[in-house]
Amino acid sequence: MKQFADWLSTTSPSVFIQEHNTWAIPAIQSIHIVGIALVMGSVLMIDLRILGWAGTDQTLRQTTSRFGPWLTGSLWLMLATGILMVIGEPVRELVTFSFWLKMTLVAVGALVAVIFQRTLRRHDPQWEDALVQRGSIKAMAVFTFFVWAFIIVLGRLIAYDHIWGSWSPAATQ
Ligand code: HEM
Repeated sequence: MKQFADWLSTTSPSVFIQEHNTWAIPAIQSIHIVGIALVMGSVLMIDLRILGWAGTDQTLRQTTSRFGPWLTGSLWLMLATGILMVIGEPVRELVTFSFWLKMTLVAVGALVAVIFQRTLRRHDPQWEDALVQRGSIKAMAVFTFFVWAFIIVLGRLIAYDHIWGSWSPAATQ
């Protein structure tokens, strides 16, 4: 991975970002951070509806139809800005434990969101009448919220990967 990161840092898109890093990285990072608000806002609204703590004047389907596209759109935005940051600083990103754990959890969170939206579309009445009342579904809503919150922590920890000790690939370089 270090070899790949070294090679990536010599490619022209990476060199372009490195040469303009006084504004390019902060600008990309700022968009990435706006994306966090959109992801967390939409996840929170859907989770609060599942818990029955907000939006109960709307059906679960109405709530997910409203916030689901924001979640999907903001995840694409985060993927695009995240890839640009990786291209700009490949070694800093790819040779860290925090980055790979974060990517794994982003994949898990996105998969859970896709499965949830698909099953809700297919089995709408069961979800509205019974499934949303189940303790296990409510627990899942709380759990997924904390997974997204942990992803935020891991995003910040990329810059402090030494805290993982020998788990950090940087420690063995
Ligand atoms: C979808 C794929 C994503 C990719 C490829 C990606 C990639 C990155 C990269 C490369 C950084 C720069 C880290 C550094 O150099 O310090 C970063 C920062 C960060 N990311 Fe992501 N990210 C993604 C999604 C997310 C999501 C979904 C969240 C939160 C819900 C998130 C939260 C953060 C945070 C909090 C930071 C630190 C920002 C800062 O301290 O300036 N990222 N991300």
